[in-house]
Amino acid sequence: MVSITMKTKSSGETFDIAKRLGQALTFPLVIFLHGGMGMGKTIFSKGFVEGLGLEDEVTSPTYTIVNEYGDPPRVFHFDLYRLCDKNDLYEMGFEDYLNQGATLLLEWPDLAFDYDLEPKLEITLKSNLDFPDEREIVLETTHPEIMRLLKKI
Ligand SMILES: Nc1ncnc2c1ncn2[C@@H]1O[C@H](COP(=O)(O)OP(=O)(O)OP(=O)(O)O)[C@@H](O)[C@H]1O
Ligand SMILES: [Mg+2]
Repeated sequence: MVSITMKTKSSGETFDIAKRLGQALTFPLVIFLHGGMGMGKTIFSKGFVEGLGLEDEVTSPTYTIVNEYGDPPRVFHFDLYRLCDKNDLYEMGFEDYLNQGATLLLEWPDLAFDYDLEPKLEITLKSNLDFPDEREIVLETTHPEIMRLLKKI
């Protein structure tokens, strides 16, 4: 497993890091975005999608649960916050989004833990109350190709 920690001092820096990751990680993968409310999961998603070269406007899927970007969809962007349990996830058709060759970005991903989603990159965004515009971003993966590409960034 590899674990890389970065710090950002603004939402723009978080966006830029995510964009660089999107430029490097162009194959379909699954990104779990951990971190509390307002930590920057959606900002990260915006940067990542732009890095993939997509021009779609990325908005928070808080109410839609899932947004699609690209045509055919190259990214499915989920926010599972409003789902109550694994049955809700199943009912919203989660399994239909798998194996479509798209990247999955998941905010509040815990309900999807039981699915064996690979290749997977786990990202955790944290803040320090004393510095409201700073974030610590931890990237973790066990996948060899993602590890190789992360080390180059
Ligand atoms: N270093 C930083 N990185 C990212 N966002 C930051 C940073 N500093 C301040 N912010 C602010 O934090 C907020 C992050 O909002 P965002 O919608 O991306 O959070 P989120 O994790 O998706 O929240 P939610 O769980 O509600 O979906 C924005 O208002 C952004 O301007
Ligand atoms: Mg969000």
